[in-house]
Amino acid sequence: MRTNIVAGNWKMNKTASETDALLDELAAKLPDSSAEVMVAPVFVNLAEAVRRMDTSRIEVIAQNMHFADSGAFTGEVSADMLLDIGIGTVILGHSERRAYFGEDDQLLAKKVAQAVKKGLRSIFCFGEELQDRKAGKHFEVVASQLKKALFGLPVSAWGKIVLAYEPVWAIGTGETASPEQAQEMHAFIRKIVSDAYTDAVAQKVSILYGGSVKPENAAEIFSKPDVDGGLIGGASLKADDFVAIIRAIS
Ligand code: PGA
Repeated sequence: MRTNIVAGNWKMNKTASETDALLDELAAKLPDSSAEVMVAPVFVNLAEAVRRMDTSRIEVIAQNMHFADSGAFTGEVSADMLLDIGIGTVILGHSERRAYFGEDDQLLAKKVAQAVKKGLRSIFCFGEELQDRKAGKHFEVVASQLKKALFGLPVSAWGKIVLAYEPVWAIGTGETASPEQAQEMHAFIRKIVSDAYTDAVAQKVSILYGGSVKPENAAEIFSKPDVDGGLIGGASLKADDFVAIIRAIS
């Protein structure tokens, strides 16, 4: 009913030749799986990555995008530029964009709206920080992030939205939310999407978990009913680890 997705966020890693080598290795080792498989190399390597994965079922996606059509935004990349090189999916709102580049919910609402307008699929990232969880505010924080950035969208937009719950305290730290914590939050997310829209919308949206997913913990996290795959950082940089994580979902 829902699409399972395993997406690798390569962040600011891999030169052009390293990107080519990792893509080739992944394509060669890719297991049969019902899950969609995506990887997000850096902007400068995207066009070549798309060409390289032309005959593979690995989808090459972008890590970020600007909300404007074009113009005086030095260093930025537009939706049309991504579409023009064959990119159909973009990660938006990653916690590193929020923490280091000042992206807030209002800005992200504009980015998601632009992606929807242009027909790009968004993988929208959100999640609480450690202090929020310690204070018992994690549900409140997540609800607020979704409401501000996404709940202004029309129902029709939701076919192009993938959610990625990434508790900030679990990203790159080796600390993982327990499968129970992930399931609890994913069920909550589905409930608030259902309340804001309809149950049909909530049942159809894929909700990925992200934060220190590894070959050792992937199967248990993915076995939870409301976890529809993962957004993988560090472990997506090694073909064998990423392939093991893809296997864990099928
Ligand atoms: P990690 O990163 O798997 O290295 O924790 C996840 C992410 O940032 O998407």
